[in-house]
Amino acid sequence: LVGIILIALIAYLWGSIPSGYWMGKLLRGKDFDIRQYGSHKIGATNVLRTLGKVPALIVFLVDISKGLGPTLLATFVPFFANGGWGPAVAGLCALLGHCFPIFIGFKGGRGVATGAGALLIISPYIFLISMVVVIATIAISRYVSLGSILGSATAIICGIIFYFVSQNNPQFLIQVNLANLFFLVVVPALIILFHYDNIGRLLKGQERKIGQKVTVQP
Ligand code: G3P
Repeated sequence: LVGIILIALIAYLWGSIPSGYWMGKLLRGKDFDIRQYGSHKIGATNVLRTLGKVPALIVFLVDISKGLGPTLLATFVPFFANGGWGPAVAGLCALLGHCFPIFIGFKGGRGVATGAGALLIISPYIFLISMVVVIATIAISRYVSLGSILGSATAIICGIIFYFVSQNNPQFLIQVNLANLFFLVVVPALIILFHYDNIGRLLKGQERKIGQKVTVQP
């Protein structure tokens, strides 16, 4: 239990690193707060529309690593692993860190990149399936949020199906145990929940398409 509590704490603090927020300060000065622009979030999607492509790519990669790093640590350090619960808890806490970062007043992002980084370690095949859905949805609709929502829903559905399949088929390629299932249901469900304002805009036809610029005061 000490291992689980410790990895939860490490993952939360790691996930709390507000890369998008810092990117804004780095490029626009110390008074700039990206949360005053666009979707008011610190994720790569809002960095793209506010600060541009290269900063968005950097933030995207850092945010993926915030999910990937703690989950990897929990997978390979036996003290943290606890039969697969360590990585699941690490992934969840990294997501909570990104969405409610302790360093900037608990107002962060929606956790898509961070959740994806953790998913890559916890279930690489389900990561790939979800990524296909995310990329196809964004390519067709141009809405990043819709891609994130449908990709998350895919992870939940795959998690539940493959959990039951792997119960009866220990040889099946995609094995999902109870700890994995916990991650695969809770984390994507939270990500969908954190898109509640995007869902409102999508329904009203007011959601911004990918890369649609927002004007930033000089
Ligand atoms: O990464 C979150 C994405 O799905 C939506 O971001 O800034 O458009 O609300 P945003």
